[in-house]
Amino acid sequence: MNDTPRNPGSGETSGQSAANPDIAALNDAGIATSPQIQARLAAIMFTARYHGVEMNIESLRLRPDEPAPSPPVLVEWLREAGLWARGVPMNFRQLMKVDDPAPIVLLLDDGGAAMVVGRNREKQLLLLRDPRGGAYDPVIAVDELRLKQVWSGGVLLVRASRSGVEGDPPVNMALLARLVWSDKLILRDIAISSITITILSLVPILLVMRTISSVLQYHSAATLDLIIVILFTVVIFEALLSWGRKMMEVILAAKLDSRLNLIIFDRLMALPIEFFERQRAGELTYKVQQVNRVREFLTGKLMNTFIDVMMLCILLPVTFYINATLAWTVLVAAALIAVIIAIFLRPLGAITGRIIMAESGKGSVLVESIQGIKTVKALALESSRSADWDRRVAEVAELQIELGQMANWPATLTMPLQRYCSYGAVTLGAYIALHSNSALDAGSVAGFMLLGGRVAGPLVSLASVMEDVQKAQASIEHVAWVLNRPNEKQALTHGLRPRFEGAIEFDEVTFKYEGAKTPALDKMSFKIPAGTMLGLVGRSGSGKSTVTRLLQGINRDYSGAIKIDGTDMREINLRHLRKSFGMVLQDNFLFRGSVRDNIISGRPGLSFEDAVSAARLAGAEEFIERLPNGYDTFIQEGSPNLSGGQKQRLAIARALVSNPKVLILDEATSALDPESEALVNANIQRIGKGRTMVIVSHRLSSLLDCDLIMVLDRGRTIDIGTHHELVERCAIYRHLWFQQNRHLDPEGFENDAKNSPALTQGR
Ligand SMILES: Nc1ncnc2c1ncn2[C@@H]1O[C@H](COP(=O)(O)OP(=O)(O)O)[C@@H](O)[C@H]1O
Ligand SMILES: [Mg+2]
Repeated sequence: MNDTPRNPGSGETSGQSAANPDIAALNDAGIATSPQIQARLAAIMFTARYHGVEMNIESLRLRPDEPAPSPPVLVEWLREAGLWARGVPMNFRQLMKVDDPAPIVLLLDDGGAAMVVGRNREKQLLLLRDPRGGAYDPVIAVDELRLKQVWSGGVLLVRASRSGVEGDPPVNMALLARLVWSDKLILRDIAISSITITILSLVPILLVMRTISSVLQYHSAATLDLIIVILFTVVIFEALLSWGRKMMEVILAAKLDSRLNLIIFDRLMALPIEFFERQRAGELTYKVQQVNRVREFLTGKLMNTFIDVMMLCILLPVTFYINATLAWTVLVAAALIAVIIAIFLRPLGAITGRIIMAESGKGSVLVESIQGIKTVKALALESSRSADWDRRVAEVAELQIELGQMANWPATLTMPLQRYCSYGAVTLGAYIALHSNSALDAGSVAGFMLLGGRVAGPLVSLASVMEDVQKAQASIEHVAWVLNRPNEKQALTHGLRPRFEGAIEFDEVTFKYEGAKTPALDKMSFKIPAGTMLGLVGRSGSGKSTVTRLLQGINRDYSGAIKIDGTDMREINLRHLRKSFGMVLQDNFLFRGSVRDNIISGRPGLSFEDAVSAARLAGAEEFIERLPNGYDTFIQEGSPNLSGGQKQRLAIARALVSNPKVLILDEATSALDPESEALVNANIQRIGKGRTMVIVSHRLSSLLDCDLIMVLDRGRTIDIGTHHELVERCAIYRHLWFQQNRHLDPEGFENDAKNSPALTQGR
């Protein structure tokens, strides 16, 4: 080491960059100009690569006013690439102690960076690497003193993301119980306040007993005054505590609610598209919403039972203390009530289950009718939809009545027993007092009247909570049915994140949709280099959309191999794949919000300028600027204020804004009027620069400019070549071409049509 501390991050030597490909890439992209920024970025790229992630420099947006990328910017960039990152302060000793061999990025004071790649514990030296250096540059050993001169503690820790590593636990009662339990402190406070409230509520009862026994018997006015004062104080206290407990319950419920909702949505979004395609939206929504019932149960009924049980533990001994015989009779009555309720649990549960089914069916009729309202109106289907709705409503209503009838029985049967607990016991007490010589005085009888009901109440609710447990169990099963199925989480958070060039290869890919008899793709093989503009043609159902779906990882249980730049798609991180691919469909969903928001769609790191240049590329700029508020024009749901062509161009801009390496257009121009179609097609060549395009279209004229056109039939590749080659040698293609362009037909291919394969549907 030299005597003067060398700053390993912003090494002045310019010859180093040649040895480091990352620096070369940064120079090429013209992103980072100063040695400090280059050092920081190269350090990040090196560390990310250590964790198996290839950072994409194009996805980093440096703000021009920033001298060096700040830790939050770097963290954001790393997180977006699927890594765990955090900026933390550390000192030399802590750095020496770290056991993990993964590099740690030191953020140097001058805006540069260095990487800790090893430690010499005997000599107390950290081994550093200059991120700008080449792979074979020697490491630099520094001691605490030297490091302190260029570094004051800023560190960037990077790890492979941990989320979802162990797989999410299934959604069930245990998960919910754990969620509730994670708020142990609130639960404890609720328990303490409940016990206190119970004890406080006993005081008035005991005092009333006293009033009746002594004050009335011995006319003691002084005692009465005292009792009034105590009563007043106790009641105030009780009110305050109850208020506090209620607040805690409300907070607990709100916390649980938000946590639960986050989990549910997260799980729902991780489900594969395939699943949503097969299920009715209304039913799914209804089933997932059942989780609210469970939450209500947990923080409502279950919480009350919890409180009741604690009350019981205090009240029951008191009743026995007042009079054991009476206490026993109350206990027996409560037990009888519990038995009656238990008998009715099962039939009630069965009806409840049927109600849930009927409700979910009803829900899906409503959702379907709203979603398909255009078709309903256009085909005047209102009355048949209404009839369907009527039937569902009637079904639910009948079941509700059945449930009511059934639930009425236990309520009626237990009524006398409940009444016994409050009044009956007192009468019996009076009887005992009259006819035996026991020491039961008037005060005790009155006390029993007040207490008996309060003991019986919790006992009864204890029995009925069983019913609610069953209901909650049924609800959670509905939720679990939706959420506890194989999801894409593993694939979304794991796997390689290579930098794509866009070469695509299908190798004997066979794929069958669930429930289909014949495969949608049958041993399909083809290969295109990066940057190709590939057209897909073939009649309806020949598997064109399926190819694009497989490319996006929407359906994943195919056999054979799909390779992107030579990497098997199964090994690639799914989110990374979908982010790097752009997709435009025939009918695209625009979200409510401004034009600009729709183009950016909340992708981090994108600015207004990105939106504008994407819109320009997509040929959308011209009409956006004519909109009343330009890029701030608000788009309504279903975007009624835009024409089909405008919507489509917005969708293309939205797909282009993240500069995808592969852009897929599946019949993107098919529903457009010729003028809009021509507008979009005119831009396709420009759009295709520097990326691979896969264009599905049944209008061959829009594929003329493609580098390659692939002809599909029944899931097989029939031929692949340029337009001219295909017209020459592929019968199916030639037929399609002249069918759509009769005026070009040299010798009347229509006659030929009878002999050529049946492609007359022409899609
Ligand atoms: N979600 C799906 N579920 C079941 N079968 C499907 C599904 N989508 C497409 N298919 C079937 O797969 C075949 C190929 O469909 P597709 O790729 O959409 O054809 P294209 O886009 O060429 O019209 C067709 O026979 C179609 O019926
Ligand atoms: Mg299709």
